[in-house]
Amino acid sequence: MKSFKSQEEARAAGVYISKIRSFVKREGRLTNAQAKAIEGNWPSKGLSIDQGMLNFDHVFGRTAPTVLEIGFGMGKSLVEMTATAPQHNFIGIEVHRPGIGACLADAEEAGVENLRVFEHDAVEVLAQSIADDSLHRLQLYFPDPWHKTRHHKRRIVQRDFVQNIRTKLAIGGTFHMATDWQHYAEHMMDVMTQADGFENTSSEETTGYVPRPDYRPITKFEVRGQKLGHGVWDLIFKRVS
Ligand SMILES: C[S@@+](CC[C@H](N)C(=O)[O-])C[C@H]1O[C@@H](n2cnc3c(N)ncnc32)[C@H](O)[C@@H]1O
Repeated sequence: MKSFKSQEEARAAGVYISKIRSFVKREGRLTNAQAKAIEGNWPSKGLSIDQGMLNFDHVFGRTAPTVLEIGFGMGKSLVEMTATAPQHNFIGIEVHRPGIGACLADAEEAGVENLRVFEHDAVEVLAQSIADDSLHRLQLYFPDPWHKTRHHKRRIVQRDFVQNIRTKLAIGGTFHMATDWQHYAEHMMDVMTQADGFENTSSEETTGYVPRPDYRPITKFEVRGQKLGHGVWDLIFKRVS
C-alpha cells in the first residue's frame, strides 16, 4: 500500500487513515437535567468548529485574556475558576456529552457569562478554531493516563501536540498540566523540557514541578486519585519564543 506523509496527503488521495485519538467516546447516559442544560444554554455558550477560526472579541463581546481548558470532565472545577476570574474569558473543550451537560448546568446556576464550550476533539478545535498567538493560558488537568505501554501513543501530551499548543499561546502565555500518574508526569516533563520555545516556570530546580497554584481548584479526577493514594504533579511552562 502507498504510504502518505500526512493525513492531509492521504485525504487528498481519497484514502482514509484512522487517527490515534486521546479518548474513546463513551456513550454515557444524559440525565434530564443535563439534556435541559444543553438545550437551554447551547445557543449562548456552545461553540462549533463550523464557525471557523474564532475571534474571541466577538465571541465574548469584549477584549480579555482567554484561557482554554482541554478535557474538563464534568466541568465543576472549570465553572469554579470561571466564576472566580470574571476578568478572563474561558473556553472549555470536552468530548463526553454528559460532561458538557453537567458543566452547562453548573454554569447556569453560577450565572457565569465568561464561559463557552466545544463538544469536540480538542486537537481539531485547536487546529481549526483557535487563532495563533491568541491564548493567555492552556489548561490540561488529569488527562487520560493511558497507563498500558501499548497505549502510550494515545497520551495527548506528545512532541507535535505541544508544538501546536505553542503556536496558539501568546508569547508569555502558559501551558499548565496536572496529573496524578507519576509516569505520565515524568513523560510530560521530558516532552516539555525538550520542546523548543518553552521555559519551565518552576523554581524547584531538582524536580521542575510547581505547587498547585491558587487559581486551580481541586478537580473531580484529582479527588479520585487522592482516594487511591496517588500523588499530584503540576507543571507550568511559559511560551518564550
Ligand atoms: C481523566 S478525565 C479528567 C477530567 C477533568 N479534567 C478532571 O480533572 O476531573 C479526562 C477527560 O478528557 C477528555 N478528553 C480526552 N481527550 C480529549 C480530546 N482530545 N478532546 C477533548 N476532550 C478530551 C475525556 O473525555 C475526559 O473527560
